[in-house]
Amino acid sequence: MVCLGNICRSPLAQGILESKVDSAKVMVDSAGTAGYHIGNKPDHRSIAVGKKNGLDISKQRCRKFESGDFDQFDQIYAMDKDNFTNVMALARTDEDRNKVKLLLAEIDLGIQEVPDPYYGGDDGFDYIYSLIDKACDGIVAKLHLR
Ligand code: 4NP
Repeated sequence: MVCLGNICRSPLAQGILESKVDSAKVMVDSAGTAGYHIGNKPDHRSIAVGKKNGLDISKQRCRKFESGDFDQFDQIYAMDKDNFTNVMALARTDEDRNKVKLLLAEIDLGIQEVPDPYYGGDDGFDYIYSLIDKACDGIVAKLHLR
């Protein structure tokens, strides 16, 4: 799960998908394309909306996406088109490029991007939670993860 800062959207996406799969079979992680917040906890608003929905994402720590992630993961989901472009720029082969998708391409909600909630209000976090939750249900069904 990849966003820009790895403190708002992708930590929630990691926590949500982790909650829906068997951790013995599926490794879920998140990263940001920017390095502004490396080592930090998720944004307090993401921690709060997670908690409200029964998830504890407070133990996650921010890291930056790197090309070696293509060797570790089979699927790479970008929250928006900028993240998608930035991840694609680090891909080395067609195999790498084929792993990268927009998260919301996994479902048909009529929107393509999880909007960046960083500069908005708390209600933006409820909204992105619901988008990501639906997309993760789509991933679990499509990849038969449960
Ligand atoms: P995220 O949100 O990409 O969902 O983690 C952002 C977090 C931090 C910044 C931008 C977006 N920032 O500019 O620091």
